[in-house]
Amino acid sequence: MMKIRSLICLSILSVGLVSCQQQKPKDAYADEVEALLSKMSLAEKIGQLNLLDGSWQAERLENDIRDGHVGSVLNCSGETANQLQRVAVEESRLGIPLLFGRDVIHGFKTIFPIPLGQAASFNEELIEQGSRVAAIEASSVGVRHTYAPMIDVTRDPRWGRVAESLGEDAYLTSRLGVAMVKGLQGDDLTDPSAIAACAKHFAAYGMTEGGRDYNVADISAETLHDYVLPPFKAAADAGCATFMTSFNEINGMPASASKYLFTDLLRDEWNWTGMVVSDYYSIEQLKVQAFCETLDESAIYGINAGVDMDMMSHVYWPLLEDLVKAGKVKESVVDNAVRNVLRLKYQLGLFENPYCDTTRDSVFYAPEHLETAKKLATESVVLLKNEDQVLPLTDNIQSVAVIGPMANAPVEQLGTWCFDAEPEHSVTPLAALTEECGDRVKINYAKGLAYSRDESETEIPAAVAAARRSDVVLLFVGEEAILSGEAKCRADISLPGAQSKLIDEVAKAGKPIVLVVMAGRPLTIGAETEKCAAVLYAFHGGTMAGPALSDLIFGKENPSGKLPITFPKMVGQVPIYYNQKLIGRPAGDDIVLLKDIPVEAKQTSLGFSSYWLEVGYKPLYPFGYGLSYTSFDYKKIQVSNPELKMDGSIDVWCEVKNTGTRPGKETVQLYVQDVAGSATRPCRELKGFKKVEIAPGETEVVSFTITPDMLGFYHAVDGKTYPETGRFNVWIGSSSEGGLKSEFELVK
Ligand code: GLC
Repeated sequence: MMKIRSLICLSILSVGLVSCQQQKPKDAYADEVEALLSKMSLAEKIGQLNLLDGSWQAERLENDIRDGHVGSVLNCSGETANQLQRVAVEESRLGIPLLFGRDVIHGFKTIFPIPLGQAASFNEELIEQGSRVAAIEASSVGVRHTYAPMIDVTRDPRWGRVAESLGEDAYLTSRLGVAMVKGLQGDDLTDPSAIAACAKHFAAYGMTEGGRDYNVADISAETLHDYVLPPFKAAADAGCATFMTSFNEINGMPASASKYLFTDLLRDEWNWTGMVVSDYYSIEQLKVQAFCETLDESAIYGINAGVDMDMMSHVYWPLLEDLVKAGKVKESVVDNAVRNVLRLKYQLGLFENPYCDTTRDSVFYAPEHLETAKKLATESVVLLKNEDQVLPLTDNIQSVAVIGPMANAPVEQLGTWCFDAEPEHSVTPLAALTEECGDRVKINYAKGLAYSRDESETEIPAAVAAARRSDVVLLFVGEEAILSGEAKCRADISLPGAQSKLIDEVAKAGKPIVLVVMAGRPLTIGAETEKCAAVLYAFHGGTMAGPALSDLIFGKENPSGKLPITFPKMVGQVPIYYNQKLIGRPAGDDIVLLKDIPVEAKQTSLGFSSYWLEVGYKPLYPFGYGLSYTSFDYKKIQVSNPELKMDGSIDVWCEVKNTGTRPGKETVQLYVQDVAGSATRPCRELKGFKKVEIAPGETEVVSFTITPDMLGFYHAVDGKTYPETGRFNVWIGSSSEGGLKSEFELVK
């Protein structure tokens, strides 16, 4: 099988011989772009490719802008941005407006759940609404480019940026990533509330070895094409205005220098005509990655690969000018990059409206924004356990113990990547529960630990005492925000600090425990959940995490989240994910666990199957799993035709009945398995989902349409993606395990 490496090597060879990228067919603003380009000096062209941080050497920034050396500025907004914009528009020779960028990853001022939490909602409409709110708030202070959505598929909870991801599945990431693009960009980029989205990090950043940030991604062509690229193709097809390079290499080729990714694939094969920005310093880092020896070479590789803008490497400017004059870079290559930058500025209407109006009433934290944040936080919570229906709390509860370092942590509940957030606006679980309980239910609050990493046990007795005085315990644990995000990888994904000890000691009080986990990743909480009657996984839920959790705990809302990523029992199981390949010796229920192995057992006595001796082969919780306060019964799966023709489609449906006593939302999931192929195929793959609200006792018929293109996979032999005829299994169910099964055959 030809690995992606040889494909990439081919593109390395072509880098030196690069011919300028032929401009795509005439597009919007082509006349304006060409007219302006024709007036620009080489130095001014290169200035448009320079993206500087507004906090960097602020005293010289204005001069650089005035001299035409800066095209975009990140990390400043409001009047500061307007001041820089005035210099660009009114004092530089050509008056080309600046593009202001910012990481608006899950909200600007109103903070939504981290993207991993949003993914648990499986609710595209709500995610789009949340991204729209983020765009309205950010654009109101001049931000018109955000470096989001992050659509790196990852199977590794050790990776700090799993918090920013939409989970382990390419199909789910594709659909939710497109929802974010639509929300951020709106219907028309010239609308002042629209901000250009940025599909990042292209590519394979989520597949780095060891879950360690910035590390090497050494993956097959199949993994690249079947799991890594689809969300980016979906974003490109959805009109995502920009892409960002990733820090990692892919099989020896740093993404930021990959002509294969940014020219051959993105522009030539996908016909995408947007603007590419490097990641922070990533052009300069090509030298650090031992891919080249000089910054001149870094500049040559970056611009020839098709990376239009250099974020903070200070390589394109000032080095490209001499490189063009020395004939080492064609000016036509620079011209194409400048076209992509200018086109985006015209698309955003920056030439007509370069400034933000800071005199208008603030749109931050508007009631409808907070309401959207609460809805998304509510639907992002996953009910993992609910023994004896301890949840929702009923009227016979007269006192609750609210315990744990995350119960009243306004900074921590916001999660990573929320530079503009203001924790004073966070509504914590303690605040929301206090509001909810009023004088009806007594709250006994005891923090137990000062923060998630706290090893001190001095406050644990007071927490135990609070539990003893209460009918039920609400125990809020998890991770401080700083423990996930960029460069925050963990080799141990258990609860930090003495939180497990806190749970153990509180459990001795003998009261039912509702464990609420607020974290930036899956945590190995198996032992802790055994001591608790109920478990709500809330991720970092944002500004309105508290009211969302209070409504769920007291039953005003019914949990509907489903896991967007597999939860391992132990970190040693990683990578463990639902759509794994079928192996030659699968484990079954006859495995012998380490604790049960007889002393002096014979070498062959444990059989020969694939599992871990300590924990078996199953995860703690599977992808797609999530409970409800009601129950849903799946019946009567049917297929419209047992044969699917290459030019046709078939429908598959089943009945879903709410067999409980309260309304509930259920994410009905469609999985397909290619029973055999010219390459081994996964045990099943998510190919559809629908979130439906069903009243008690009612039945919904949920139907999906299957077409051959949904069944395709990458063929290394010819580098193409297509389906193969043959038998397919199909399931409709409530998670990636089990479900109603049927089958069909794909025929010519
Ligand atoms: C960071 C991140 C990237 C972010 C950029 C600007 O290093 O990798 O996702 O958008 O720099 O902050």
